[in-house]
Amino acid sequence: MLKHPLFQFFVLLIASYLFYTLGIQVLSKPIPATLVSQYMAITLGVLLLYMATETERWERFKSPIYEALIGATGVHRMLRNVLFVLIPLFAGFQTYQAVKPQTTPPPPFRTVHPANPESITFRGESYDLTTLTNPLRAEPAKFDEHLEVGKKVYYERCFYCHGDTWAGDGHFAKGFVPAPAKFTGDATLAILTESYVFWRIAKGGPGLPREATPWNSAMPAWEDRLTADEIWAVTMYLYDAVEKEPRTVLSQTESGGH
Ligand code: HEC
Repeated sequence: MLKHPLFQFFVLLIASYLFYTLGIQVLSKPIPATLVSQYMAITLGVLLLYMATETERWERFKSPIYEALIGATGVHRMLRNVLFVLIPLFAGFQTYQAVKPQTTPPPPFRTVHPANPESITFRGESYDLTTLTNPLRAEPAKFDEHLEVGKKVYYERCFYCHGDTWAGDGHFAKGFVPAPAKFTGDATLAILTESYVFWRIAKGGPGLPREATPWNSAMPAWEDRLTADEIWAVTMYLYDAVEKEPRTVLSQTESGGH
C-alpha cells in the first residue's frame, strides 16, 4: 500500500499542508491563509502532473477511484454511499466556515493619547509636565515672531507626514501605521495641553508608553534636532494654524485629567 500512487498522493498532499501551515510557522512566521491555499493549489497541480507523467502510474493512481465509483460489490456500494454523504458535508462545512460571521474580537485598540509621564528629561534638564507651560506665551509682543519660527520648523520637519493642511495626510502618510496624527478637528490638539504636545514632539514614537502599542509609531523624537524653544514655537504654530486653544492645566484638573 505504501507504494501505491494514490496513497503517496494523499500523504504528500497532507504533508505539504502541514508544512505550509505549521512548518513555516515554526521556521519563521505564519503565512496568510490565502497564500496557503495558493501553495496548495500549486502542489495539487504538480502532484497530479507527476502522477500523469507515466501511463502505468496514472492507471494505478486512477484505478481505486474508478473502482470506488463504479465497482459492483456491496463494499463498493457502501463506500460510495459514505463518500457521497461525507464529501458534500465537508464542502458544506467549509462553505459555512468561510461565510459565518466572525465572532473573534478585533485586535486591541491602540490608546491614541496615553497618559504622559509626570516628568521628562529634555537635553539633560528635568521638566515637570504637570506644571509645565509654554514659555513663549509669556512674551505676547513676540507672538508673530514665534509663529514664524514654528511655521519654518513645521515645513522643514513635519509637513511631509502631517500634511500641508495639518490633516495628517502628508506625502509619506500612507506608508505609516498608525497614520500621522491629524491636528485639525476636535480629537487632537484641542483636548491636549501644550506640555503634552511638547512631550510628544520631544520624545516621539520611541517615548510612547506600552499602552500606545502594539503598532510602532513613526513619529520621530525631535529632542536631538530641535531646541526646546523650537518645539514650543511649532506647538504654538500648530494651535494657531488649526485655530484651537490648548487645554490648560487648570481645565485638565477640573475634568479629572486625561
Ligand atoms: C515620519 C513621519 C512623521 C514626521 C516627520 C513627524 N511626525 Fe508627528 N506623528 C507621526 C505619527 C505616525 C504620529 C501618530 C503616532 C503617534 O502618536 O506617535 C505622530 C504624532 C504626532 C503628535 C501627537 C498628536 C496627538 O494627537 O497625540 C504630535 C504632537 C506630532 N506628531 C507633532 C509633530 C511635529 C511638530 C513634527 C515636526 C517637528 C512631526 N510630528 C513630524 C509621524 C511623523
